[in-house]
Amino acid sequence: MAITSYLRQGPRVAIRHVRRQDYDELTALAQDSAEMLRRWLGARENTVEAFESYLKRFEQPTHEGFVICLRGTGAILGGVNINNIVRGTLQSGTLGYTAYASTTGHGYMTEGLRLVIQHAFGELGLHRLEANIQPDNTPSLNLVKRLGFQREGYSAAFQFINGEWRDHERWAITAPQTTNQDGCRSCEGASLG
Ligand SMILES: CC(C)(COP(=O)(O)OP(=O)(O)OC[C@H]1O[C@@H](n2cnc3c(N)ncnc32)[C@H](O)[C@@H]1OP(=O)(O)O)[C@@H](O)C(=O)NCCC(=O)NCCS
Repeated sequence: MAITSYLRQGPRVAIRHVRRQDYDELTALAQDSAEMLRRWLGARENTVEAFESYLKRFEQPTHEGFVICLRGTGAILGGVNINNIVRGTLQSGTLGYTAYASTTGHGYMTEGLRLVIQHAFGELGLHRLEANIQPDNTPSLNLVKRLGFQREGYSAAFQFINGEWRDHERWAITAPQTTNQDGCRSCEGASLG
């Protein structure tokens, strides 16, 4: 049955928050994609307990979890997290995202991640989103380039994945600058310090 409570919709895909009922579908996708996910994200547990702890993360204001769904059927195509959200004068977050073996290579992630970015810069009031990508993860680099991210730098030994501290490239995108007589929207509510 089609799910109608989407946050945003594009021509082919839509986004909504991840929820407890997604466990079976996400687990099946992750199991079918184990090798692809392990290579770039490291080994992940697919237990109910691990999923519950994943969902708990999104009860905090510092994390947002989304799934990208095929419009019409509602089938899950991918997932996107905004982690480590910092408010105040930064209004920034760090992206994590994945497609699955059966859903990759169709442009769904480009469309879905674009919707998440629009939601982040719109409803969530964020100003900057960052993605940290291993230099040989070509599909991920292609994805952020297509979406207009800029390469900011190179972080040596950035993240511990598959038994090693892996170097990452840091890419980021900032919200279009819209100012009015009261100042920029992303600075609303900011305080000194
Ligand atoms: C990174 C990742 C999400 C990229 O996903 P993706 O499937 O390549 O992204 P899209 O869904 O946007 O598909 C884009 C590809 O589909 C192709 N494509 C095929 N049909 C298409 C269509 N109708 N419309 C648009 N693109 C289409 C595009 O040409 C593009 O391929 P290219 O990059 O070789 O040019 C995916 O590789 C993944 O999940 N990897 C494992 C986890 C991971 O690495 N996460 C990121 C850690 S930093």
